[in-house]
Amino acid sequence: MESIGRCRIVRRLRGGHHCDVLLCRGSDAETVVKLFHIRSRHLKRRIVKGDTALAARVRQSFMDEAGLTADLSHPNIIKVLDIAETPDGMPYFVMPHLSSSLAVRVWPLHLQSFLKTPVAERHIEPIDPVETARFLQGLLSALSVVHEAGIVHRDVKPNNILIDDRGSPILCDFGMALLASGESVTWRKRFGAPPFVNPEQLIDPAATGRPRDASQALDLLKSAPSRNMQLT
Ligand SMILES: Nc1ncnc2c1ncn2[C@@H]1O[C@H](COP(=O)(O)OP(=O)(O)O)[C@@H](O)[C@H]1O
Ligand SMILES: [Mg+2]
Repeated sequence: MESIGRCRIVRRLRGGHHCDVLLCRGSDAETVVKLFHIRSRHLKRRIVKGDTALAARVRQSFMDEAGLTADLSHPNIIKVLDIAETPDGMPYFVMPHLSSSLAVRVWPLHLQSFLKTPVAERHIEPIDPVETARFLQGLLSALSVVHEAGIVHRDVKPNNILIDDRGSPILCDFGMALLASGESVTWRKRFGAPPFVNPEQLIDPAATGRPRDASQALDLLKSAPSRNMQLT
């Protein structure tokens, strides 16, 4: 496939259990298309064996994610530019392309760079505290809009916090969200990235409530002070 809707596919950025995230070029700007595509071998096996209910559930969860993301309007929440289907019936949604994420900024620093750097050279540049506060303010403001809509994101982690040209956080990936109705967007029973998941989510995944996203977001703060450490 070379194009999708009016966008030309440049390359695949990422692939999840049930989607491909594609970098595309629209008529005037780069966009990102999240395309429904069952990739997980386990899922495929179950569906091939005839689990049509699961197939429908996975597809519906993708559509729910697209719809609820499009309904949320906030400068720090990813915008949905279009929701459509490919000619062969695969749903997708289009977003603006953001060139960075918190994962790109913080994660390599913590893991790869930190571990690979010789101990004597482990000097880490301090992060500007005012910038950090501004960043978190944007993120918490986005979460407050999510919560006012009765939704809990449940997957606040560096990979799902994109960063725009001005350095502001843009929350994305509502694929794990819990809706006001108590319905879960995701078809998966277990979810959440272990380093960022909140303990109460592990104990009672069905529980709703704001503190969960807030504490996840505040956990990210722990990343910031560690950048101030001078490890020699
Ligand atoms: N609009 C976007 N701009 C740039 N990168 C994006 C965008 N949307 C998603 N990505 C990248 O693709 C990854 C996976 O997208 P995401 O929506 O989180 O899907 P998944 O449900 O597979 O985690 C993100 O962590 C990010 O690196
Ligand atoms: Mg994600």
